[in-house]
Amino acid sequence: MTKPLTITDIKKMKQEGIPVTMVTAYDYAMSKNLNEAGIDMILVGDSVGNVALGYTSTVPVTMEEMLHHTKAVMRGNSTAFVVGDMPFMSYQASEVDGLYNAARFLKETGCSAVKLEGGSEVAPLVAKMVQAGIPVVGHIGLTPQSVNQLGGFKVQGKDVAAAKKLLEDAKALEEAGAFAIVLECVPEALATKVTEVLKSAVTIGIGAGNGCDGQVLVCNDLLGFTDGFRPKFAKKYVDLHAHMLGAFKEYISDVKARSFPAKEHTFAIEEEVLEKLY
Ligand code: KIV
Repeated sequence: MTKPLTITDIKKMKQEGIPVTMVTAYDYAMSKNLNEAGIDMILVGDSVGNVALGYTSTVPVTMEEMLHHTKAVMRGNSTAFVVGDMPFMSYQASEVDGLYNAARFLKETGCSAVKLEGGSEVAPLVAKMVQAGIPVVGHIGLTPQSVNQLGGFKVQGKDVAAAKKLLEDAKALEEAGAFAIVLECVPEALATKVTEVLKSAVTIGIGAGNGCDGQVLVCNDLLGFTDGFRPKFAKKYVDLHAHMLGAFKEYISDVKARSFPAKEHTFAIEEEVLEKLY
């Protein structure tokens, strides 16, 4: 039986210059498909709020929702390293909340690590989680849980002060023991610099160019699930929206025309059984 990748495998990939692949998933079926494709890491992102639950941001997402979706992903997982995303206010109010909620991910879902947003301000919490045996992925740059504070979804680290702060945040997270750091919406050259400076933490970029140790995309963006807004950095590998629409329309028209179900989709019964009903 194949075992899931471990934190050691992921860290080794950085040292060997092998790009790390990560995609988000929120349910059993997507998790199974990603496993079959050979993905390294699955992130059960709080983006579930936007793409699967219909919220307008990740802010309303709760711990219970995250645990529910992470459990479903874990049931479909056999080989990937799965990371559960800590939702807004599951770690910001106190370190005790943070430790307790991070532990819930590992204990109740069986996933291998947690991700949380923030730089040096969350480093002490990260250190405590790591001391407690919880692998941590950091997340800096555009941090969607703080979208109200950031004033919108914008590229981060563009001036000297912001670029310096991003580099310092990355170093603080690495020092605290984060084994990987998501860099979201950061200029390519800055993300490359951060990647070079960090000796052990694996950088995983999203809208951060090609110089990171790995890449992450939201599965719904990658698959073209809807035809709504998609960020510039999100490459659409297939237009599933068009395929789904076509299939749903064909089904509706088949049912209306009584051409579905056909004989091959139907169960038969012996005539004499039917006769005995009257
Ligand atoms: O929630 C999420 O999907 C994320 C990725 C964008 C990294 O945090």
